[in-house]
Amino acid sequence: MTKNTCLPLKGTDYVEFYVGNAKQAAHYYQSAFGFQPVAYAGLETGLKDRTSYVLRQDKITFVLTAALHPDSPIAQHHLKHGDGVKVIALWVDDAVQVYNEAVARGATSYQEPQILEDKDGKVVSAGVYTYGETVHLFIQRSEYHGAFLPGFIPWQPSYQPANTGLLFVDHIVGNVNWNEMDKVAEYYRTVFGFDQLISFDDKDISTEYTALKSKVMANDNFMVKFPINEPAHGLKKSQIEEFLDFYIGPGSQHVAMATDNIAITIAHLRANGVEFLDVPDSYYDTVKMRVGEIAEDIELMKKLRILIDRDDEGYLLQLFTKPVQDRPTFFFEIIQRRGAKSFGKGNFKALFESIELEQSKRGTL
Ligand code: FE2
Repeated sequence: MTKNTCLPLKGTDYVEFYVGNAKQAAHYYQSAFGFQPVAYAGLETGLKDRTSYVLRQDKITFVLTAALHPDSPIAQHHLKHGDGVKVIALWVDDAVQVYNEAVARGATSYQEPQILEDKDGKVVSAGVYTYGETVHLFIQRSEYHGAFLPGFIPWQPSYQPANTGLLFVDHIVGNVNWNEMDKVAEYYRTVFGFDQLISFDDKDISTEYTALKSKVMANDNFMVKFPINEPAHGLKKSQIEEFLDFYIGPGSQHVAMATDNIAITIAHLRANGVEFLDVPDSYYDTVKMRVGEIAEDIELMKKLRILIDRDDEGYLLQLFTKPVQDRPTFFFEIIQRRGAKSFGKGNFKALFESIELEQSKRGTL
């Protein structure tokens, strides 16, 4: 394999969040987002230091893990960062080969290859660090037939909420420190063989007050897309800076989840109590001029406060939740693509004004 060949990644396997209370977080992901219970591991399965709940909606798998003891590295992580993404697991055919190649190209090892086995088969996993304390685990699961991973037992509570139409992870964004975006983008280029899809700078993404820079890195099949943001100078504090202040360093800013009917999904999520960023009325005064004809009813989009943007290949509809934990750090994006391969650059200004409104309420602008 030559230096810049893309590592063979088949897609996102799962995202693991370290949280303060996995049992309660799992209920939130069920009742608010419509995730289905899948698997569990904890004291009852022989673990001493942690408990994990696995939830799934179509191709999106989330693991919620909390520490059971203050000495656990999970407890340390949570004390420092609050609730947040620890593991972005990537699905591969050969975890040992991908791990060895990644380390040979300069990645820092997080976990040497391990074989996990139970009565349902075996999984090979290995991992490397990315930005901050966030890690990528490579998961090879072709010989496994259990609910999630060896060691987990099926979790089948009587409460089985309706799903909300979320289908797969579209992209996962990382926020990194001042002047680190190029370094992290280069890491994805040299270690993973990713290419840069798009870049924005502070001229594209700024309001009167706040600004950021962004580069979008993607693998060869576009199944794995990682935009990387860094703060840029504005009159007041950038939302990326606010994240860095409260997460205490770089980390995952948002996971974008795709739907094929955003109106139904957003209506459902709103009814379940999910909070979204406010979009000013004025946004819809100019949206038709900006995006032209779309298949959706603009009035319905306005009612649900869904954002719309167009690029050369089509358009997309998207909306962002407010942070989903106490710290103003991680949030979700809901996205429906109608041909567009971009990330909603045209919405950034409208959106930032909304984020600034939230920041000023928190006194962090
Ligand atoms: Fe996004």
